[in-house]
Amino acid sequence: MGIAFYLILTILSCSEDNDNGDSPEASGKLDIPFASIASNITENSFQANWALVSEADSYLLDVSTNSNFSVMLTEYNALIVQNNTVTVTGLSPASNYYYRVRAKKGTEITNNSNVITVTTTGVAAEEPEDPTFLKVKANALENPFYVGVAVKAHQLTEGSAYDEVLKNEFSSITAEYEMKMNPISTGSGSYNWEAADKIVNYGNDNGINVHGHALVWHNAVPDWLSNFSGTDTEFALEVKKFITDVVTRYAGKVRSWDVVNEAVDDNGNMRNTIFLQKMGPDYIKDCYQWARDAANTAGDTDLLLFYNDYATSTNIPKQDRVFSIVDDLKANNLIDGVGFQMHNTYLSPTKAQIETDINRAVALGLKVHVSELDIQVNQNNDITYLTEERALAQKEKYKEIVKIYNALPKANKYALTVWGFKDNESWIPYSTDLNHPGNDWPLLYNDKFELKKAHTGFLEGLD
Ligand code: XIL
Repeated sequence: MGIAFYLILTILSCSEDNDNGDSPEASGKLDIPFASIASNITENSFQANWALVSEADSYLLDVSTNSNFSVMLTEYNALIVQNNTVTVTGLSPASNYYYRVRAKKGTEITNNSNVITVTTTGVAAEEPEDPTFLKVKANALENPFYVGVAVKAHQLTEGSAYDEVLKNEFSSITAEYEMKMNPISTGSGSYNWEAADKIVNYGNDNGINVHGHALVWHNAVPDWLSNFSGTDTEFALEVKKFITDVVTRYAGKVRSWDVVNEAVDDNGNMRNTIFLQKMGPDYIKDCYQWARDAANTAGDTDLLLFYNDYATSTNIPKQDRVFSIVDDLKANNLIDGVGFQMHNTYLSPTKAQIETDINRAVALGLKVHVSELDIQVNQNNDITYLTEERALAQKEKYKEIVKIYNALPKANKYALTVWGFKDNESWIPYSTDLNHPGNDWPLLYNDKFELKKAHTGFLEGLD
């Protein structure tokens, strides 16, 4: 008896689910109920209403998160109701729900009513990002590597938000500009070490690796040297003195240096810098030799010397020229690694382009530093805020490059450094150097220092 009753019910509800036509069982006295609009809508509840059907003894209410009722809320899956209204609770804010009812009299059940759509009030809760710390996950890898960030001296105040994020998440730092020639060198043989010292000491005191950036860069030549009126030989001696003094001061404290930065132009030629003009094409080798000699003399025989440049993955003539410089340095035993800046976009470079580029350093047995990673999402100025779609695309790109890096052989791994903390402090938005036309959101934390999807992408790249 009980089983037979259950079977009849099942058959009825199956035939009714996708069928709004009359079925023989439902054709008797009962009218199909008419659902009316919801009332008392809040963030997590609403009142479902319908018109009473004469002779019905109860109603069956369905509430679903989709309009074809394929996913029913468990507590509202043919919920039996004696009245013509029910308060539906336990809902999410700013979400769509759908309801319908059937009338019931004994074993007789009608077809479904019309469907009412309700949107709860409030703001949809964001899926929280994975709060795992980057360096914690990276350190647990079979072949770990440093996770670095570019810093500015003023951020390194004990107890500041930067200080906290840095110590939790990062195992390496690079000065974003305060260890370049321009801020340090105030004249021939005179120096301002304040900011650089602060950065190096911070790293040393907190067990954080320090990467030195950059001894020789055409964009950071101090005025006194740009306007140098001595002979070319005297100019070279000034450069030698600077390299020697800086490397000596930080010997044993800075693990690695970008000795020459961006010596190749966008056509794949040697960049026509003041260094090339005054010192000739061998200036690069000379700079590395001076850095090596200074470190050795100071007792640091482990200092790692890097060549650092940008856009080598997409610009093949440039890549070729960079690797001819690197080959030459390697043949003279003057280089330990290559820095790939990776100021990328959510569209470029491709995985294959990055791999081809990086593998040239691997083939030479050199260390690889992804040295200035950021990923633009608005290089064409076509969005005015970070859209969900772009945030997801950026996340995938972060994940991709971290995966590529993590797959490198142990001997070639060094560090993967992100170029700054918060989006609004990145050098990318409105950068005239980059001809960046508008705002952008290229980093791992938003303006409020909250984790972005990009951060989760970084973590996923370590899986
Ligand atoms: C940029 C810094 O981010 C800026 O704050 C600074 O004003 C200029 O330099 N390639 C490099 C980095 O090697 O040193 C540059 O950093 C970005 C491009």
